[in-house]
Amino acid sequence: MIVKADKAAIDEAARIIRAGGLVAFPTETVYGLGADATQGRAVARIFEAKGRPRFNPLIVHVPDLEAARELAAFGDDALALARTFWPGPLSLVLPLSAQSRHRISELVTAGLDTIALRVPSHAVARALLVAAGVPIAAPSANKSGRVSPTSAEHVEDDLGSAADLILDGGRAEAGLESTIVALSPQPTLLRPGSIAREDIEAALQRRLSDFEDGRVQSPGQLLSHYAPRASLRLNASEAMPGEALLAFGPHAPEGALNLSAAGDLREAAANLFAYLRALDAQRPSRIAVMPIPARGLGEAINDRLRRASAPRPSDKRP
Ligand code: TXA
Ligand code: MG
Repeated sequence: MIVKADKAAIDEAARIIRAGGLVAFPTETVYGLGADATQGRAVARIFEAKGRPRFNPLIVHVPDLEAARELAAFGDDALALARTFWPGPLSLVLPLSAQSRHRISELVTAGLDTIALRVPSHAVARALLVAAGVPIAAPSANKSGRVSPTSAEHVEDDLGSAADLILDGGRAEAGLESTIVALSPQPTLLRPGSIAREDIEAALQRRLSDFEDGRVQSPGQLLSHYAPRASLRLNASEAMPGEALLAFGPHAPEGALNLSAAGDLREAAANLFAYLRALDAQRPSRIAVMPIPARGLGEAINDRLRRASAPRPSDKRP
């Protein structure tokens, strides 16, 4: 059920979370499907609702740095990043603290001795975290492997009644998931996202290592993540017969759905998932995507497009 995220709805959502239920809520990146991270059975319902492989660990959302420090060990680099980018779309993968090892469900961490933490900036997400008073584990509120939802309607389309409540806070502003950085053994970019690599490197005053496949368990690895129904053709200059065009920049063909006619990567990131869904709904044989520059947020956009265009060996989608 979709309800407008006013004070009464947020209080009700907090009650549902504490009672072990599932609430979909807006964040500044995408909508999340949240459960109390300390209740294993509640967290299990997330995996069930998403059809998500169990081995994928979840990001835990907390209201502030203080709450985060109860759950994980922060070194100097982690503190510098948290102070620069929180609240905001950065997730930090850190060693679990001794107390959180007992408190946080193992389903959340998938048995790893690290935890991914994030302090969202969206007013509704923050109000929910404060009202619930527990850390909230929340992946994106879509079926596993599908495009992330940037509106309450997307969530309902994907999950139907699997969420006990869907808080409607309008469109998710950034439209792209958080950037995930692991801090040990050295700062490493696990998933490009809403904060550009360059900005994180500037805050750290050093370069980020790149994630090597297999080294850390992260479903970013699943190649065909974020896939629409239609297949994708990248670096297209125009649509071929039967294709729908996802355009970018000022030199796009007239009338095409354009991620950003001005060539603005932030605007393109915000539109990406909603436009993929919109084109997919036209049931084209394929979606042709114009080239997106690799700089800044373009790294994350191209990462999502590459995954969406990857072959899908076990694809059973209708
Ligand atoms: O913007 C976002 O981050 C959204 C909103 C809802 O906050 N959440 C999100 O969650 O994108 P999800 O579950 O779709 O992606 C979580 C990513 C996965 O790639 C997972 O493997 C990684 O975080 N992750 C979580 N815990 C980890 C850990 N301990 N070590 C390595 N990767 C971890
Ligand atoms: Mg996701």
